[in-house]
Parts: sequence; C-alpha cells; structure tokens
Amino acid sequence: MNKLNLSQLLLEWYAINGRKLPWRVKGGAHPDPYVILVSEFMLQQTTVKTVIPYFHRFIERFPTIADLAAASEEEVYLYWQGLGYYTRAKSLHRTAQMIVEDFDGVFPQDKADVLKLKGIGPYTVASFLALAFNQPETVVDGNVIRVICRLYHLTEPAADITEIIKEKAAALTDKTNPADYASAIMDLGAMVCTPKNPQCLLCPWQKDCLSKDDAALEKIPNRRKLEKKAKLGSVYLVFNSKGEVYIRKRTEKGLLSGLYEFPWQENEDENACGGTDTGKEVSHVFTHFKLTLKIFRAEAEKFEADGFFTAPAELENYPFSTFMKKVWKTSLKK
Ligand code: ADE
Repeated sequence: MNKLNLSQLLLEWYAINGRKLPWRVKGGAHPDPYVILVSEFMLQQTTVKTVIPYFHRFIERFPTIADLAAASEEEVYLYWQGLGYYTRAKSLHRTAQMIVEDFDGVFPQDKADVLKLKGIGPYTVASFLALAFNQPETVVDGNVIRVICRLYHLTEPAADITEIIKEKAAALTDKTNPADYASAIMDLGAMVCTPKNPQCLLCPWQKDCLSKDDAALEKIPNRRKLEKKAKLGSVYLVFNSKGEVYIRKRTEKGLLSGLYEFPWQENEDENACGGTDTGKEVSHVFTHFKLTLKIFRAEAEKFEADGFFTAPAELENYPFSTFMKKVWKTSLKK
C-alpha cells in the first residue's frame, strides 16, 4: 500500500479510537500553544497516566505563559514535585520567560527560533510544531520507534538505525493534518502496537505490517540494554536539640539542582557526620545509574554552612526530590 493510504488509514482509526487527553483537541492544532508546551515538557520522560493530574494542577495555577514566567522558581518546582527530572521544570520556566521577554509573549513558529528556547531538542521541537501549529514535522518517540520498526520489520538494534527509522517515519507523516497524525501514531504505539501483547487485529496497518506473523514480534524494536552503574553513598539526618532537622538547597548544576535535600555524599568516609548507622538504606534508579544511600543519624547544633535546620512538620513546604522524600519516609519506618 502506498504511504498516503497508510496515513489515511491511521487518521481514520484515530478519529474513532484516539485517546481523549486534557492537552489534546482532535481535528488540527491546539488553539493554545502554551498547553502543548507544558504537556510536551511533562511528557518528555513521564507516562501519560502520571502526567494528567500534574498537568491539571499546573495549568490551574499557571494558566498562561505570562503567569508561568512571573512565578518564582521555587513555586514552579513545588508544582513539579514528584514528576522527577527537575531540569525540565527549570527549562520550562526559563522558556516561558524567554518567550515573554524575547518574543513579546507570542510563541515562535520558526523551527530555528523554537530550538533556541531552553530544554527543547529535536524531539520536542517536532511534537511542539506539529501539535501547536500543524506543521508537517515528524515525531519520533519510543512509541513511534516501535511502530516503525515493526511495520518495516527492522530488527537491528534501534540505537544503530535511528536515521533509517526517522526517514521511514518522515515518509509516512501526513502533510495535510500533521497534528492529528502525530497524536495518532503515538496512540497507535500506546494502545495497539504495545510492547507486550500487541493488538494486531485492531491495527489499521495490520495488512501492511511486515512483522505481524513474526513469533518474535515483541522483541522488535531490538533494545540493547544499557547496564546501570551502581553507586553507593551515605545520607545524614542531623537533628539539633530542638528536634529540627538539617536541610540544604542543592545548587550544583545538573542532577536535582534547585531542590532541597538532606546532606549526602558518595562514599569515601561514609560516616562523615559522626553519627550512628540506622541500618536503613534507600535506593533510587536515575537515568544512568542506581544510587544506594545508607542512612545515618546524628545530633549537632551546627552542621556545614550552606543549609539550615527546620522542624520536620515544615519539610513539606520545601520542594524535595522523590529520592529525598524516600530517605525521610524510610528513616521514620520502625
Ligand atoms: N508523549 C509525548 N507527547 C505526547 C502526547 N502529546 N500525547 C501522548 N503521549 C505523548
């Protein structure tokens, strides 16, 4: 079948079966590019199901780009808290400020301008321009990679054939309704061409799919596993005589920057706080490594210089990463 017919079949399937999502309109671009900007940032590394309640709260608190640009970084983090990958929140905030300051609050539609914004790479620029402005851009996320690899029976490691996947995805992209097409192919991957138990009988592309009779269909795309490096360290819960606990704001660039934390370090002198080992530990899997911290407890009136003591009941007023919340919760367990 030719590509035109394939995209037409997918659009017909989408008109009836496509998901209703709070950031989505069917039948073309979304009227408010800000809604697409926020949702695409949230969806960069997080599932649709997780994003939905965060998206509602965020849009309710920051209904326009000007509201977001004017907010404090601290408050933006509070509304992002729990979504993880906090550099996204920082970049989204900065992008809102750049649009207000450099583009008079009007969203740029030129690809080169959009790429100058913070936190928008080749993936987000394509989905943003397709979904917000109906530009014929090709979205290539995990769902799309799976659909394309299966449709064309591409069994080489996906990481080695990214250019081929992109070319095939681009050739299929519908030029008359790119916004719906982008949503449609993501939905096909999320609802029908799923990693496990794909619903081939419901697939609009079944007749043309070169993998449908392959017993090893679930092994496509071929994902070479990356080993996660294991890192070990210690985290310190330091209490003063008022029962307050020591926290600090993370200022280092990169991982979890801007969030609050209990002091911690990767292992050298593991009991650097001179406290006692609680026998408890917490682990968290980050993108490229797994970090396990032993929890130590100490009493001191002063600790380091960069943080401060606060009552445990006040902790909820500071944005903490999911990992640090896990540290606190684990420390309270009997
Ligand atoms: N993943 C990234 N963007 C998405 C969107 N707009 N809808 C569903 N899943 C997505």
